[in-house]
Amino acid sequence: EKGNYRHFMQKEIFEQPIVVAQTLRSYLRGVERTVGLPQMDFDLSAVKRVTIVACGTSFYAGMVAKYWFEQFARVPVDIDVASEFRYRDPVLEDGGLALFISQSGETADTLAALRHAKKAGQKIAVVVNVPTSTMAREADLLLPTHAGPEIGVASTKAFSCQLAVLAALAAHLAVVKGRLTRAEEEEIVEHLTQAPAALNAALDHDEEIAAMAPLIAPARDVLYLGRGPDYPLALEGALKLKEISYIHAEGYAAGEMKHGPIALIDENVPVIVIAPSGPLFEKTVSNMQETQARGGKIVLISDAEGLAEAGDNCLATIEMPKVHPLIAPLVYAVPVQLLAYHVAVAKGTDVDQPRNLAKSVTVE
Ligand code: F6R
Repeated sequence: EKGNYRHFMQKEIFEQPIVVAQTLRSYLRGVERTVGLPQMDFDLSAVKRVTIVACGTSFYAGMVAKYWFEQFARVPVDIDVASEFRYRDPVLEDGGLALFISQSGETADTLAALRHAKKAGQKIAVVVNVPTSTMAREADLLLPTHAGPEIGVASTKAFSCQLAVLAALAAHLAVVKGRLTRAEEEEIVEHLTQAPAALNAALDHDEEIAAMAPLIAPARDVLYLGRGPDYPLALEGALKLKEISYIHAEGYAAGEMKHGPIALIDENVPVIVIAPSGPLFEKTVSNMQETQARGGKIVLISDAEGLAEAGDNCLATIEMPKVHPLIAPLVYAVPVQLLAYHVAVAKGTDVDQPRNLAKSVTVE
């Protein structure tokens, strides 16, 4: 039931603080202030490499996880879209963990990739939202998201819950690899615990984002830029916009702009910049300024510090709360989802049932 919401997608965007809290509850031990995972019959501390495979939005959650696993746990990560993985005959060495991410747990390409990796001797972990799904049954380690049923074809709450689980997994992997002290683990648990409140703060910008949608709706093309773990969010923002509003959109790593895409820029191409303040901020801002110098109209999504520094001369800005890098992608997902949603509403498309798309893709 949609309740007071106009669309399931809108309802699911607004459910995120609750379902992320629900998901985190099964991974955070509040009293001990540690990250806990379900029982597994293998030694996570012995994992030498993680191979992540998924499709679409779930793949972008996996891309964020690659940054986290490498940065916090110093474990090397390979990542592929499922439709490419098997056919390139990947090198899968002993001691590898293969991680599959899927809302439905039934996506044909992802399932085929799982079976391929299993045959090749990898331990299999899955992050799925449907605990009775085929992928859940075939896994060595089941890491459920508790997003509840997702009805809107465009994935929103499943994505943020996947990120929550992957953040917990990154932290746990870092602990078992001896990369985090007890105090650092407690600190991470504290930040993760604050994620639902930060999501609520992000949702407070709903009306403001609705008001800027008419500025984006007439565009034929939109670019999204981000760096580090916000690069996959740029890809996700572009995917959301194209699938429900039918506006052509591309996500780029901000530093790639000058290697080609900047040729597209003129005053008719809005550029959405996803850039929390932090070590990468200055670099992204200089890419943003190169775009502005060519007439590009910027929507800057950052925190108060970032906006104070670079928010002038933008078409619009959206202020996010200042958060730890481990939860920033969850929080920044919200404005990106809301922007796609309101632009689609402004264009009058069928938000919950976009043309040509199915909720679960069970053919290769
Ligand atoms: C985008 C979207 C799709 C799915 C993809 C994978 O909004 O929903 O890109 O993310 O089809 O589906 P799952 O996660 O069920 O494997």
